[in-house]
Amino acid sequence: MERTFIAIKPDGVQRGLIAEIISRFERKGFKLVAIKIVVPSKDFAQKHYHDLKERPFFNGLCDFLSSGPVIAMVWEGEGVIKYGRKLIGATDPQKSEPGTIRGDLAVVVGRNIIHGSDGPETAQDEIKLWFKPEELVSYMISGEKWIYGDN
Ligand code: GTP
Ligand code: MG
Repeated sequence: MERTFIAIKPDGVQRGLIAEIISRFERKGFKLVAIKIVVPSKDFAQKHYHDLKERPFFNGLCDFLSSGPVIAMVWEGEGVIKYGRKLIGATDPQKSEPGTIRGDLAVVVGRNIIHGSDGPETAQDEIKLWFKPEELVSYMISGEKWIYGDN
């Protein structure tokens, strides 16, 4: 089953939005298969955002991600990579639709509270960067057939 990496950034943690964000993924029907709280080092933040290293905001972005606790998670479900991004909303909260996490809960691009992998390859790379294989848990939820049907 498809998996994606989702992180609640230091602003989301400080603003008390952990439960709110987890709840949106959980209520949708996605399954939490890994979670931890961690303060990433600057070096680690640079690895996570390596594809943005030429952007002018790269340094500030990495300083920010490493400025406090982050909730790192892996969520599983059909279409979770793409739909997770839909739940999150556009990068700039000024352009995110109401009903999305950033649309409802954030105001500026530099403090947009959540990260989500942008495709299958990045999802795989980010899960590997943030988690050891044994930190991922495979399990059944008894009500799964009410989300996916019998097959
Ligand atoms: P992530 O899920 O965090 O990766 O966001 P994204 O995929 O929606 O956007 P992208 O990967 O392009 O940018 C990563 C992060 O850099 C964003 O979430 C923002 O926090 C930050 N960022 C992107 N564009 C800007 C910008 O123009 N200015 C500033 N200050 N930050 C930006
Ligand atoms: Mg991104």
